Amino acid sequence: MTHNLLIIKGDGIGPEVVDAAVVVLENLGLDLHFDEAPAGYACYQQYGDPIPQTTLDAARRAEATLFGAVTTPPDIRNYRSAVVTLRKELDLYANLRPVRSLGLKGRHLRDGLDLYVVRENTEGMYSGLEEDYGDKATSLRVITKKGSERIVRYAFELAKKTGKHKVTIVHKANILRLSDGLFRRTALAVAEEYRQYGIEAQELLVDTMAMRLIKDPENFEVIVTTNLFGDILSDEAAELVGGLGVAASGNIGLEGAIFEPVHGSAPDITGKGVANPLATFLATVMLLQQINEVEASDRLQQAVTKIINEGNLTPDLGGTATTLEVRDQVIRFLQ
Ligand code: NAI
Ligand code: MG
Repeated sequence: MTHNLLIIKGDGIGPEVVDAAVVVLENLGLDLHFDEAPAGYACYQQYGDPIPQTTLDAARRAEATLFGAVTTPPDIRNYRSAVVTLRKELDLYANLRPVRSLGLKGRHLRDGLDLYVVRENTEGMYSGLEEDYGDKATSLRVITKKGSERIVRYAFELAKKTGKHKVTIVHKANILRLSDGLFRRTALAVAEEYRQYGIEAQELLVDTMAMRLIKDPENFEVIVTTNLFGDILSDEAAELVGGLGVAASGNIGLEGAIFEPVHGSAPDITGKGVANPLATFLATVMLLQQINEVEASDRLQQAVTKIINEGNLTPDLGGTATTLEVRDQVIRFLQ
């Protein structure tokens, strides 16, 4: 079966890292068809819209989308962020971050980690409902039963699919008694259903979770939480295994699945040929999982692990290689 994939390169280093990933994808021996659509600041300058309707439609049609990076200019009124618009329009409610040790060495890096942070991506503190009262401003933290149920179910299904045995439900229901009370109750009810599959549920307060991620991260398998807490915990967790250069994420919903490196458009190194493509390759690993090409996904994950341990990396990870040299080493390790 042909997989129809959408490529959104974006701007800055986006095209450099995505082009490298497409060549890697083409070397996996799969039946893939690529479409391409524009988004981001360069797209805004050309078409007057950072995320045209045709791009949204193409992402909805595709089986999965690989997204590079986009610049978000701070000083244009009513500018809509391409990534945020895609999440909203396609209702990509699950933000997924694998946290996997790759063999990178550093002061705060950990070996042996293999966990996921699952973050609710559409409501909570980022519902976008803010009021300005002059000397006072408010943001409405919206939690719904539907939103909570589907994200927690996603986390348990992920555990089931990936052979994990524990899901940690993270909240602050002792203080946010109503909103997180609803999230907690809903989550625990979903957890009941998965007991029969041997998946255990654990709950932790978010501040305790933040400490435990540093103290004993190896004790976690799948962590599920609301939007803001997940945003913070996923970046904290990413630092345990290598940070921006290797952090990838997925935005997944019923109407689409978009995979991207966590880093931005890196204007300081754009066009120099030294952008590290590994985070985009790891986003590609996630994309391959999503389209059920598990063997190819594992092969690419292993090739990335291998280059980290034996190969020459880009300068941000202490090496001297260019983007294309990293790409070609990974392709060699795939054979
Ligand atoms: P950034 O992630 O683009 O860069 C931060 C630092 O990390 C820079 O020194 C950069 O050179 C380095 N870096 C990032 N990715 C790298 C890679 N693949 N290889 C080697 N070095 C890399 O974050 P920054 O500078 O805060 O934002 C730049 C632009 O990107 C802004 O317009 C921001 O809005 C946008 N952005 C877009 C994101 C997205 O497309 N999802 C996410 C984050 C920021
Ligand atoms: Mg973030």
